[in-house]
Amino acid sequence: MELMRVIEERRSIRRFRDDPVSEEIINELLNAARLAPSGTNTQVSRFVVVKSPAMRAKLGTATPYTFITRAPVIFVCCCDLTAMTTRELRRAELLEAGIFEGVDVNEDMADSRARAFNQIGVEAARAYLSMNTAIAIEHMVLRAVDLGLGSCWVGGFDKEKVREILELDDSIHIVMLLPVGYPDQSPPQRPRFPVDHLVLKTV
Ligand SMILES: Cc1cc2nc3c(=O)[nH]c(=O)nc-3n(C[C@H](O)[C@H](O)[C@H](O)COP(=O)(O)O)c2cc1C
Repeated sequence: MELMRVIEERRSIRRFRDDPVSEEIINELLNAARLAPSGTNTQVSRFVVVKSPAMRAKLGTATPYTFITRAPVIFVCCCDLTAMTTRELRRAELLEAGIFEGVDVNEDMADSRARAFNQIGVEAARAYLSMNTAIAIEHMVLRAVDLGLGSCWVGGFDKEKVREILELDDSIHIVMLLPVGYPDQSPPQRPRFPVDHLVLKTV
């Protein structure tokens, strides 16, 4: 499908048909996530693919949005907090690949910024890494529409409960739940501000 049509047709889907989502499609969605950009190419996103009805039901106890249990697959979208310790490696890889060759960059400033950034606190790191995972999630969301599927970002859930249910260790930060399936609804576009409302100023 043409990209703008995918963007325009996407809706948060909260009612799903029972039809299963194939492994092939699951891999397509994960591949869309894999191709997302990430700061310093840290590639921080990790996913738990929840298909079993028993496990989906358990996840349903961790959120008021129990509709997620009716989706044939729920991606528990996470980021790997240890990525902050390997940023220098990723950066070296990028420099080796020549990303800045023939490009105007103040290398001294970039270097000292990168070093300082490695020292940011846990909360700031979590926010930064989560932002990267959010991009990967939206890649999946748009690819899902492209493949005739629907999904819904679900941020309203008890992270600690999900951590316990899935036995995830503390190096994994849980960002979002993403139920995916074939839509059993076709809602109209939700309210949006006009474009000029988004622009603070043009200078
Ligand atoms: C970060 C984020 C968190 C969200 N969390 C929830 C949620 O917990 N439960 C829910 O039903 N929808 C959730 N949504 C979906 C929004 O309600 C939805 O995107 C918004 O109402 C606009 O509707 P649309 O996606 O159909 O355009 C979330 C969306 C985003 C981007």
